[in-house]
Amino acid sequence: MNTMKIEDIKKQFEKQFKNINREEDLKNLKIEFFGKKGLVNCLMEKIRELSNEEKKQFGADVNILKVFISEKIEEAEKGFKLVELNKKLQTESIDISIPVRETNIGTIHPITKVRRELEEIFYSMGFVMAEGPEIEDDWHNFTALNTPPHHPARQMQDTFYMPDAEDGKKIVLRTQTSSVQIREMENNKPPFKFITMGKTYRVEMDATHTPMFHQIEGVYIDKNVNMANLKSCLMEFCKRFFEVEQAPLRFRPSFFPFVEPGLEIDVQCKKGKGILKLGEGEDWMEILGAGMVHPNVIKNVGLDPNEYQGFAFGTGIERLAMLKYGVSDARMLYEGDIRFLKHYGFKFFK
Ligand code: FA5
Repeated sequence: MNTMKIEDIKKQFEKQFKNINREEDLKNLKIEFFGKKGLVNCLMEKIRELSNEEKKQFGADVNILKVFISEKIEEAEKGFKLVELNKKLQTESIDISIPVRETNIGTIHPITKVRRELEEIFYSMGFVMAEGPEIEDDWHNFTALNTPPHHPARQMQDTFYMPDAEDGKKIVLRTQTSSVQIREMENNKPPFKFITMGKTYRVEMDATHTPMFHQIEGVYIDKNVNMANLKSCLMEFCKRFFEVEQAPLRFRPSFFPFVEPGLEIDVQCKKGKGILKLGEGEDWMEILGAGMVHPNVIKNVGLDPNEYQGFAFGTGIERLAMLKYGVSDARMLYEGDIRFLKHYGFKFFK
């Protein structure tokens, strides 16, 4: 009787299968035979009611039926897929003559590039990085740096002032990274050998000045650091940064309240309409301020100036980028003009 039942199911399947001509119908047929409550499953459940002897034969027969039905269904599924594919191939087409859409690949901004170059040079000379806030109090930006109350840098037309702090302290957007000098020395023990790099702000704007610009500052303080160390450090830096055997530099006495003696360093260049070339021409461009850290600054951070001395230097990263990569107007760096970035941007850091 069981064998009869299997045969009946097979016949029923063959009859229905013959009439299938839509994929949807094939899916329904599959459910009818292989679904949870499908005919094949019902047969399997019958096994429980049989004797051990009957089970063997019945199981084998059901298995043959299962293989038969699933092979038929699989074959038909493949057939439907092939028909579908052929239909797509005939109706869809790709126009390979359409021009490709332009892709805009970003570039590395000259300031970012120069920052990486500076890090590499000074790290290799044994400097480490120190960081500080861009919103600074009067003490760290001016007073501790030996800048007297009447100094012109403190005036509103030079410095961006923020609303006063609750305790009445004057708050500014830092005008120089020298403020980090103080923070670093207040909070650590000598010797100090660090650089600090970041955004600084001043109320000015022309071809070589922007209201936001970047500075790098270096400080080296120990028991016997001297002016010769400062000079050799900066000469080595210029040689490596500008990638020349001999950088045409001019060391000129100057004044900064936080160094004594103070000096400025200029690099020889040729300036003209839209051109700026290093090592040529009659012009000099100031790139660095430097000097031996003033004894008052050493005192202000709690050290004895008779025991400790050292040098500090600071420079604008925009100026360095302009000189090295021939940018004639600093304002272009921040106009966000895509044409500038396409021309002056870099694909790689190296
Ligand atoms: C200073 O700011 C000193 N803190 C540097 C220093 C550090 C001197 C340590 C001694 C010891 P100065 O005001 O000259 O110095 O500015 C340093 C550099 O910042 C300038 O040489 C110039 O390259 C750059 N710079 C100044 N103002 C601007 C600006 N508005 N836009 C772009 N670069 C500027």
